[in-house]
Amino acid sequence: MNNGDVSQSRRRFLIGATSVVGGVGAIGAAVPFVASWNPSAKAEAAGAPVSVNIDKIEPGQQITVEWRGKPVWIVRRTDEMLQNIEKLNDRVKDPQSETTTQQPEYVEGIYRSLKPEIAVLVGICTHLGCVPSYRPEVAPADLGQDWLGGFFCPCHGSHYDLAGRVYQSQPAPLNLEVPPYRYDSDATLTVGLDPEAA
Ligand code: FES
Repeated sequence: MNNGDVSQSRRRFLIGATSVVGGVGAIGAAVPFVASWNPSAKAEAAGAPVSVNIDKIEPGQQITVEWRGKPVWIVRRTDEMLQNIEKLNDRVKDPQSETTTQQPEYVEGIYRSLKPEIAVLVGICTHLGCVPSYRPEVAPADLGQDWLGGFFCPCHGSHYDLAGRVYQSQPAPLNLEVPPYRYDSDATLTVGLDPEAA
């Protein structure tokens, strides 16, 4: 894919993000007194934590929420998906997530999550910022017999597994980012807040 396609893909995401910010701005304009009384309100809204009900996410399903203008994916992984992540330990670049910039310290190991079955990942490729596609199926024709499910970046072909770990020899240098998050209950998590114990 050429650079024109890359910028187009990024532009598409940025346009989406801009309309949301525009929406927040419009609310601010409707309440000028509050906005001037608390000048940081707008900044807080843009970076505010996002609570998500994960109860209805089916096994194998991915949902996307927006946090700080970025897409954040939440995937309910099946036992088979977790086994496939384990099988890929010697084919990914940083199997144990030792690069500390890519996840909070309380998210460690091969599953890169607080609970193995729920993945929370920032959906932005660590190469040049495209949004990868969710490709949970095993051995699809276009990705080959070795594909055990993961995320595929259409811009320059980077492969990530279902824990967001980048395969070896890819354009992308790093695993997908895991945002700070915590569980408020079994059914709800909040993106943008650390666990109270952390
Ligand atoms: S942006 Fe280049 S591979 Fe994803």
